[in-house]
Order: sequence, then C-alpha cells, then structure tokens
Amino acid sequence: MPYLQTDKSGGLEKKITLHSLRTYKGRERFVVVSLYDAPMAAMAQKCSIPVVLIGDSLGMTVLGYDSVVPVSMEQMIYHIEAVARGNDKSLIIGDLPFMTYATLEQALQNAARVMQAGAHMVKIEGGAWLVDTVRALTDRGVPVCAHLGLTPQSVHKLGGFRVQGRHEEAAQQMLQDAKALEAAGADLLVLECVPASLAQEITRALTIPTIGIGAGAETDAQVLVINDILGLTPQPPKFSKNFLQEAGDIPGALQKYRDDVIAGHFPGPEHIFQ
Ligand code: KIV
Repeated sequence: MPYLQTDKSGGLEKKITLHSLRTYKGRERFVVVSLYDAPMAAMAQKCSIPVVLIGDSLGMTVLGYDSVVPVSMEQMIYHIEAVARGNDKSLIIGDLPFMTYATLEQALQNAARVMQAGAHMVKIEGGAWLVDTVRALTDRGVPVCAHLGLTPQSVHKLGGFRVQGRHEEAAQQMLQDAKALEAAGADLLVLECVPASLAQEITRALTIPTIGIGAGAETDAQVLVINDILGLTPQPPKFSKNFLQEAGDIPGALQKYRDDVIAGHFPGPEHIFQ
C-alpha cells in the first residue's frame, strides 16, 4: 500500500506531519513543491503534494529580482500566510531569508514569525556554522530543514549558481556538515545542485530524509519550483522539467510530477549532475 493516503478525489486524506515523512525514508519517495500563493497551495493539497515550501526563490520567480538576496522577512510572511490559508493538509516549510538568522537571537525571533505566519518548519541555508542555531531552534520546538550544496543566499560568495561538491574536499565537507546538522536536530535536509553520487552518499549516511533538487534520483524526496513545473521560467535550469507541457493542465502537471518522482522516472539522466 502506498504511504501517501489520498481521499476519494485524489487529495491529501490526512494532515502530513514530520512523523509521516520519517516513515517514508527508504520506503517511498515523496515530493515537495516550492510555491507562493493560496490557489496554488490549495491545488497542491488537491493533488496530494505532501510538502509545500514557501522558498525565498519567490524573489526571483514572483518579484523579479535577479537573486534571493533582496527578499525580506515581510515578503516571506506575506506569502507564507497566503499559502497557509490555502492548504490545511500539506506540511508547510517557510524559508528564513538572507541574513535573518545571522545571529542566534535573529534566528529565534525570525523563526517565531515564520511559524506564527503558518509554517510548520523553517528552512535555513548553511553548514557547520549553523549547528548551534539548529540546536537552539529544535530545543525550542521549531523543526528545521537544513539546506546544503548550492545555497542561493550565498550566490555572490559562491561566484554564481554553480554545482557544489564536485571536488573531493568539498564533497567530504558537505558530508560532515550534513552529519553535524542532523546531530544538532535538523529534521530534513535539502541538497541543491550536487553530483548525484554525493547526494546518494549523504542520503545513505543520514537517518533524516534528504530532498534533492539537481541532486540525482537517489535522494529520499524531490523538490521543484512551481514556475519550473509549469514552464514559466524563461531559461529553465537543467535539473527542472516542464510537466505542464505533457499533462495539459495544472492539476495534471502536479500529479505527473508526483507520480514520476515516486515511480523513479524523474529526475532522468538528462537532469542530473555528475
Ligand atoms: O527557495 C526555494 O524555493 C528553495 C528550493 C528550490 C529548495 O530553496
């Protein structure tokens, strides 16, 4: 029997919790969609998308910035509230934007705002330097999704939107960071734009679910941005796919994305970095 229980119309039957997601690990892949508004959040619930993320990618996909750096707490809160109004079954993750968790105090204050806006979990980008932050948040009842690999908030430091962890030293560092974040209490880990073999190694080394984007087919879950799924991105990244083209309508595109990930048809070799 599939882990994801749907109602008669194919929507989510029950509220998805972290506990549900933990039981998927090693059994069934799950999908995450990064989306930003109430109607799309409602559609995701209707199409049995278990996890929705209000990513700071909204800076680029919705607000027209050329990176996520300008995104503010106010913008995140506005979109998190909208998504939470549209969906009462998916697990909702809210990003903490650039420099809003630079200190422990900022992290605690801003995480509280994201959770009170309707998120069930916060996402933060970075490695070992975040260990104390993850511990402080989880000790206070805030679940944390960590994010390694291409961390878009650091795009200027990384020198562009580039694949990360291709060299042995960087790969080992990412593996150590992942283990440290898990030990500090992180409940999920996003791996963005990393070689498929490294994502697989990290996934096997952790007990928490990993969520890949441009990270191959062996992570525990997959995330895509709604604009990419619906073919709205002028120059789509290699790891993405326009599911609307094949499916013909928005619910069909979300369902095809979900089904292709669970069946292991997406991502294919053409979406993967070596
Ligand atoms: O901001 C975002 O949408 C993200 C996902 C692409 C993982 O961080």
